[in-house]
Amino acid sequence: MATRMRLKLKTVFVLYFMVSLLGLIYALMQLGQRCDCTEHDMPKERTISRLRGELHRLQEQARKSEATRRPQKESSLPTIFVVTPTYARLVQKAELTRLSQTFLHVPRLHWIVVEDSQRKTPLVEQLLAKSGLTYTHLHVATAKERKLQEGDPNWLKPRGVEQRNEALRWLREDGKAREGVVYFADDDNTYSLQIFEEMRNTQRVSVWPVGLVGGMKYEKPVVERGKVVRFHVGWRPSRPFPMDMAGFAVSLKLLLDNPDSCFDGNAAMGFLESSLLQGLVTMDQLEPKADNCSKVLVWHTRTEKPKMKREDALQPQGLGSDPAVEV
Ligand code: UGA
Ligand code: MN
Repeated sequence: MATRMRLKLKTVFVLYFMVSLLGLIYALMQLGQRCDCTEHDMPKERTISRLRGELHRLQEQARKSEATRRPQKESSLPTIFVVTPTYARLVQKAELTRLSQTFLHVPRLHWIVVEDSQRKTPLVEQLLAKSGLTYTHLHVATAKERKLQEGDPNWLKPRGVEQRNEALRWLREDGKAREGVVYFADDDNTYSLQIFEEMRNTQRVSVWPVGLVGGMKYEKPVVERGKVVRFHVGWRPSRPFPMDMAGFAVSLKLLLDNPDSCFDGNAAMGFLESSLLQGLVTMDQLEPKADNCSKVLVWHTRTEKPKMKREDALQPQGLGSDPAVEV
């Protein structure tokens, strides 16, 4: 009886040993096999092409950021004089804050802010002082008969004319810079950093597309064989320079060589930009930037006038916002 039991146990043990051995052999055979998960099963070519795509994307990204990166030797760069007319209204501080913080990213930028007012206002004065930018603060009030009145359609009279001319007068004063680039940047537009590097080496007048302007997705100079031959605009393409203020920059030297050139406040609607440029360049001398005028790097955005319905209702009850809080 005992012998039979031992024999049975032995058989069970041998069987157990055999099964384990087979399991081990199977596992060892699987080690050398390819894995069946889809990720690793992807053909080599597909992986390589995916990596190539990724590399290309990263190279493109690096190339783009190169142009806007702060260069090592800033002092050798031409200065960009950015001229901004501005006037008091509810959104003024917001506009100037946004603008100043864009400009902080641009090396060698000198901001000329010209207030449309009888005197410099503390709001602009303090904003500039805290901005961290190199700046000049000027002011000149638009003559009453030239100023838009509440309710006037905004196309009725040109805006910011006397202010831009005041900046030109300042730039032409003795002892000021002799070289650089002048750009007329309104306070409500949107500027990419790239546009400043595009304009930096302007020889006479450089030009590029402007987005969201003139009832179009964009307006732009049309370039053929490196020259501007006409303009893609929705309205009066026959104007000498059918361009928005945001679409060109002028070399300071050219402005100094033509001391009488300025903006004409009496220019007909849409002819303000032409009134300055006419005396400075011809169409074939324009220098196309932004990849032969194929890229939109500045937008003629306009800020909605905030509604003050609640404020106006609460104020008579003494419940309006504190006037001491600057907005
Ligand atoms: C368009 C152009 O983009 C302007 O460059 C051009 O001056 C204007 O038309 C025009 O035809 O006069 P738009 O958006 O209609 O611009 O004009 P705003 O942005 O209202 O004004 C242009 C600049 O002038 C702004 O920087 C604004 O702050 C300033 N401005 C406006 C004043 O200094 N005073 C005013 O009474 C109104
Ligand atoms: Mn505007």
